[in-house]
This record gives sequence, structure tokens and C-alpha cells, in this order.
Amino acid sequence: MTRHFLRDDDISPAEQAEILQLAVELKAKPHSRKVFEGPKTVAVIFDKTSTRTRVSFAVGISDLGGVPLIIDAQGSQMGAKESVADTARVLDRQVAQIVWRTYAQAGLEEMAQNSNVPVINALSDDFHPCQLLADLLTIQEHKGKLAGLKLVYIGDGNNMANSYLIAGAMAGMHVVAVTPEKYSPAADVVAKATQIAAGTGGSVSVSHVPKEAVVDADVLATDTWVSMGQEAEKAQRVKDFAGFTIDSELLKAAKADAIVLHCLPAYRGYEISAEVLDGKQAVIWDEAENRLHAQKALMVWLDQRAK
Ligand code: CP
Ligand code: NVA
Repeated sequence: MTRHFLRDDDISPAEQAEILQLAVELKAKPHSRKVFEGPKTVAVIFDKTSTRTRVSFAVGISDLGGVPLIIDAQGSQMGAKESVADTARVLDRQVAQIVWRTYAQAGLEEMAQNSNVPVINALSDDFHPCQLLADLLTIQEHKGKLAGLKLVYIGDGNNMANSYLIAGAMAGMHVVAVTPEKYSPAADVVAKATQIAAGTGGSVSVSHVPKEAVVDADVLATDTWVSMGQEAEKAQRVKDFAGFTIDSELLKAAKADAIVLHCLPAYRGYEISAEVLDGKQAVIWDEAENRLHAQKALMVWLDQRAK
């Protein structure tokens, strides 16, 4: 059966470890695998803007010997004129994989249900699973392991929070999501992550007090307070998130050797201070680079399992 990657738990914890190991190998030898050689084309569709995802998929697909076909959805028929299902039926006759950044998770599910080639979520309103593969790779590089580490995500209970909860639990980490109460992560995601953590030795919790939550943290992570599609709520959100900035004072309350992640783009002075983002404990440029290696590993892995 064709495997898809629409949410972090579309793979098992063992498969997550396997993909991360493949990413380590591909990072060491970037041109060692040419899975799409032929050439095979991968469609990469954007309903929202992007820098990292656009570039890392394009570079990764060409590194693997394929041709990236970057489609800005406004320039295609998909949406108003043609259904997602019909688009999937057309694309899967011509491309090896479909990568899609969109709004609704349901759209990705519809694409996958109608596609015989793997569909990859390149960010939806609910999850950003490719980002988490890169983040886990980065943590593993800097800390030498994942299981048993305490990861504290501070900010909005958004797509990144959901992916940290699920993927972190899968990796056996102790994940804490710290948000203002009104912006708590979805209850079903917390429940699913808790269930996964029970099988991996990890744990999951939700807090609303940053200073308390970061004590003993090995990893701090944050994300924008205003995700794509929420621009009209900016003024309200900036008020609601007061006190949820990762600044030097908050960082001091974590372990002395804690590292700081941010998926980027970052808004200095809001979710993170310039001092922390540009400081020694931030590993954000490694994290951004690792999108490339992690996604190459994912594409190779999915291709091996495609019909
Ligand atoms: N982190 C991330 O997905 O960045 P882009 O929005 O630039 O792709
Ligand atoms: N939560 C952010 C992540 C950007 C990479 C958004 O969805 O806009």
C-alpha cells in the first residue's frame, strides 16, 4: 500500500528512527542516493508562502536525481475550478510524489485518498511533520540522543505545537507545551500524544506558566504567534501572548546547556528575543539546513514503499 506522510504519526516510532538514521547518512553523503533518477518529477504545491520548504524540497529532489515541479496553487486549476480529488488523479499519473502546503488537513487526506503516489504534508493548519523530522535530527546532532530529553515548546497551540507533541512523544521525549490558556493545543492531539508516549517512555503535558515549565529543559522551542491565515488577529494575539517570549531570563531557567529551536521565520521581540535567537544556544541555522536532509530521507523512504 502506498504510504503517505500527512501527520507525524503516519509513521511508527521505529520508522521515525529509521528515517532519521537515513537522514544522517544522506547528510554525510549528499549525492549517494539517486532514487528519482530517470528523471522522475515530484510536484511541490504551495497554497501558502514559503522559503525553507520551497528551497529544501527543490534542492532535495534534484539531489535525488529528480525534477522538482513547483506549483503555486493560485496559478493552477486546483481549488475553485477543479477538485482536490481530480487534481490527485491527474498528478499521480505523471509525478513520483506530491508535496503540498495547504490550510485544511482534510484537503491533504482527500489528496492522499485519491493518489497512488505518496502525498507529503509540507505544513497544514494542523501539523508541520517535515519540520519535526528536521528538528529531531537537529536535537539528535546536538544532544546525541532524543529519548529522555525534556523539550518545552512555548507559544501558540498551533501546527508546530501539535507536531512537537506527537513527534516528540514518538521519539520518547518529555514534551511540555506552554501556551496561554485560550491557545492550548487541541485536546485530541494531546490525548493521542499521551497515548503514544505511554509506549515510548516519553511523556506529554500542557502548562500555562513558562517560568515553571522550562526548569530542567534540554530543548526550548517556539514559533510565531501569528500563523499564516491568522494575520487579522495579530493585534489581539500580541496582547494575549505577553509573557510568552523566549528571552535570556527565561532561557536561564532551563538547563545551562539547553538548545533553542525555531522553525523560522522568526519575529524578534515577539516570540523570541533577538539576543536568544542570535545567541550561542540557538541552533536554528542547523535546523533550517536539516529540512533538506530530513526531507530527502523521507522521500527515499516513501519511494521504497510506493506501489
Ligand atoms: N519553517 C518553514 O516551514 O519555513 P517556510 O515557511 O519558509 O517554508
Ligand atoms: N505556525 C507557522 C509555521 C510557519 C513555518 C504557520 O503556520 O504559519
